Amino acid sequence: MKSFLHASDIGDIRKALEEAKAVKASPNAWKDLGKDKTIILIFFNNSLRTRLSSQKAALNLGMDPIVLNVNGDSWKLETQMGVVMDGDKSEHLKEAIPVIGSYCDIIGVRSFAGLSDREFDYAETILNQFIEYSGRPVISLESATVHPCQAFADLITIEEYKTKARPKVVLTWAPHPRALPQAVPNSFAEWMNAADVDFVITHPEGYELDPRFTGNARVEYDQMKALEGADFVYAKNWSCPGVTKPSDYGKVLSQDMGWMIDSRHMAVTDDACFMHCLPVRRNMIVSDEVIDSPRSIVIPEAANRVVSAQVVMKRMLEDLQ
Ligand code: CP
Repeated sequence: MKSFLHASDIGDIRKALEEAKAVKASPNAWKDLGKDKTIILIFFNNSLRTRLSSQKAALNLGMDPIVLNVNGDSWKLETQMGVVMDGDKSEHLKEAIPVIGSYCDIIGVRSFAGLSDREFDYAETILNQFIEYSGRPVISLESATVHPCQAFADLITIEEYKTKARPKVVLTWAPHPRALPQAVPNSFAEWMNAADVDFVITHPEGYELDPRFTGNARVEYDQMKALEGADFVYAKNWSCPGVTKPSDYGKVLSQDMGWMIDSRHMAVTDDACFMHCLPVRRNMIVSDEVIDSPRSIVIPEAANRVVSAQVVMKRMLEDLQ
């Protein structure tokens, strides 16, 4: 695997889920695979789960992880091409990336969408520079449009908790005070489309996700109708993807608290499990009573981030052998 951004990069989903099961059962069984290998994890943005689960996955495989917090520890990096570097950014990605590549065998990058230039974000401009200039396999640790390690962990969790061969999975928009990227819902949609589930997306009008990720997934604008009979409720906020109106890209179009998931919403489901990628704003996205209920699986979902990261790194290490 040269890079990990999309569900298609993992190949056969059933095979990947079987591998995830094996990795979860014996996390230290591949300790020799990463011997004398280094992974550098670059963070342009904050993280708790991605940073720690990626380090843990690397350690499980016998690799040495190095974490770099750009904006905190290193020179500020310029990401735009052809600019006069007379501002606060001291180094360009074109030098920084090959230097980073020369110190490691695999690179992971977290670089969120700026939410001001849709073309720049949706071209995955920063991540693609890492792919082009590093000479190393690159993992998206949430880039401008995708969060594949999260979506793979979500699918592993659904597989573990499902009680029906083809469960109903509902991705629902929920309110948030700030503009958030679309990476998590994009990847979740992409991975659910690749899995054997009955997938429904619900959001207020204007929040349509990019069809490159949603494909033929059913969109139901009536949230309560969408949630009827659901086995899994996946709540997430996202800002306007600018699909129907490009000038609204990155804007907050609604803060309708009626979309927050509470017991009224869960009552119409088939005793659904509640999911969220975390971090979550309580009593904005989800009520205390739902996230604290026995049907909330947000903690095992986060724990599976180690498993998804380890499968991806394992595949990359096997290709380097
Ligand atoms: N879900 C997720 O990616 O969490 P962090 O932002 O804490 O890494």
